[in-house]
Amino acid sequence: MNFLSLNKIFGQREKKLLKIIANHKKKLFLAMFFMIIVAGATAATAYIIKPMLDDIFINKDKTKLFFIPLVTILIFFLKGGGTYAQEYLMNYVGEEIIREFRNSLYEKIIDLPLSFFHEQKTGTLMSRITNDVNIVKSMVSIAVTSLLKDVFTVIGLIIVILYMDWKLAIGAFAILPMAFYPILIFGRRVRKYSTSYQEAMARLNIFLYETFSGIKILKTFTMEEFEKKRFYIKTHELFKFEMKSAIAKTLSSPVMEFLGGLGIAFVVWFGGSRVVAGISTPGTFFSFLTAVMMIYDPVKRLSRLNSTVQEGLAAINRIFDVVERETHIKELKKPILLKENSLKVEFKDVSFAYDLSEKFVLNNINFKVESGNIIAIVGVSGGGKTSLVNLIPRFYDISHGNIFIGDHNIKDIALTSLRQKISIVTQEPILFNETVTDNIRYGRIGASDEDVKIAAKAAYAHDFIEKFPKGYNTFVGELGNRLSGGEKQRLCIARALIKNAPILILDEATSSLDAESEKLVQKALVNLMKGRTTFVIAHRLSTIDHATQIIVLKNGKLIEKGTHNQLMKDKKEYFKLQNMQNVRKMDMKH
Ligand SMILES: Nc1ncnc2c1ncn2[C@@H]1O[C@H](COP(=O)(O)OP(=O)(O)OP(=O)(O)O)[C@@H](O)[C@H]1O
Ligand SMILES: [Mg+2]
Repeated sequence: MNFLSLNKIFGQREKKLLKIIANHKKKLFLAMFFMIIVAGATAATAYIIKPMLDDIFINKDKTKLFFIPLVTILIFFLKGGGTYAQEYLMNYVGEEIIREFRNSLYEKIIDLPLSFFHEQKTGTLMSRITNDVNIVKSMVSIAVTSLLKDVFTVIGLIIVILYMDWKLAIGAFAILPMAFYPILIFGRRVRKYSTSYQEAMARLNIFLYETFSGIKILKTFTMEEFEKKRFYIKTHELFKFEMKSAIAKTLSSPVMEFLGGLGIAFVVWFGGSRVVAGISTPGTFFSFLTAVMMIYDPVKRLSRLNSTVQEGLAAINRIFDVVERETHIKELKKPILLKENSLKVEFKDVSFAYDLSEKFVLNNINFKVESGNIIAIVGVSGGGKTSLVNLIPRFYDISHGNIFIGDHNIKDIALTSLRQKISIVTQEPILFNETVTDNIRYGRIGASDEDVKIAAKAAYAHDFIEKFPKGYNTFVGELGNRLSGGEKQRLCIARALIKNAPILILDEATSSLDAESEKLVQKALVNLMKGRTTFVIAHRLSTIDHATQIIVLKNGKLIEKGTHNQLMKDKKEYFKLQNMQNVRKMDMKH
């Protein structure tokens, strides 16, 4: 095989995998050493039959009667010990490779930009880390073990076979491949169904994840029966693939056994006639037969090797598809680190589309917020408010135009430095299954318990936290759905507060609060906004009283800009929005 064709078989990814495997070469070499011992011991087991029969049973040799059992003990001791050592080492290497893959997958996924998570289902990503790495591991351990141990064993046994009776061997080698051929056929089928099974299993995982996490919606729409039926379809699919592969597997062994029996019958007839004719001895014959029977298992594994490797390579491809993904958000080689603590923000001709093939959700946006000022962003739903603020921490890259923070283009600033200067309360309050304290401290790891309490007080969260069974040490998960929307929001505000960043983004931060708590939180926010460059998105226009500037977004365009009084005088979109709210308030009073 020349180098070129080797290159074709081993693509970049396979080479990378080989490199990863090669990192463990010390253990692999040690494992190889034990594999050779096991292979030698296996061949010796077949070999020893000859002196056992010929010398003990036929020639009645007394020293051999003592000597051969001792050798047998030694052979089996070496075989057992070697198998243990080799399997221990191979498992160790396999598990290490799994761990390395899991870590690099998680590292990569966590670092990928948000847009990646819009196109990939959470369940799919989870199955990369849980399932696919296992497939790779079994490929590595089976492939390496087969290639070394089984190849050595087959070589050892063939030597025994040839040594015993090469004429008989030639006859047997002509007939045995016929017995091995069906394994290939059945193996291919088993592999096809097991791939389908894996894929169906991944779909089932995604389904489970979605129905369990959306259980409330499922129940609201009384979709229990509907989902149960969809689930039955999925389990039926799994059942079908499992049965088909079970049939292929179980059919293969009787067929194999029958063909093997034919082969053995031939060996008995041909070999037996040579013993009867006095050309060969019974010991030679049985030693030969034992070796032929022992060669069956390693050859079976070797014939399966191809499909195991194919499956593993498919999994490796899926893994590398994630690991090798280009991060779209690019940083300069020497990005700027933001040192200032008061930062103005300016949008210059900013246009943005989530996907280059899709329509722009923001068009030529221009505005400027002086350091420490508050800007309110209003407009009907879907106008592009959330999209606009998401551009500031570079969750997505702008399609055209530029955003400046302080005097720097955000593209030139180190991502972590940029994001450290920005505090966000997102539209959906998201908490982790940690304690209340840990959730708030997420804003600034290293904040003292006292700081956490101060932040909670400022966010008007302290009182309800105190009422939890374990107070600040209550796990959010233990509370289950006991946290109200407003309580969750206030915890998120406390988390943003403790970060103490010069730029603050509040996306509907008070939308789930009743009028009374809103007033309280409003007070907290006023404290929070002081001295910070703040972006406030609010449907309720009362929350934007403190804004020095208001911009109105509609269909991705900035259609109005000014102070509350100016915009009221203009009597355009903002005026309409205000009036609609007032009318609604009047309606409620009636
Ligand atoms: N991840 C995304 N991929 C593609 N399009 C998106 C994505 N997120 C939002 N959009 C689209 O961008 C437009 C603006 O959405 P955006 O969330 O910015 O509106 P909004 O003004 O914040 O609305 P709301 O007041 O309802 O929160 C919408 O048409 C929406 O469908
Ligand atoms: Mg929004």
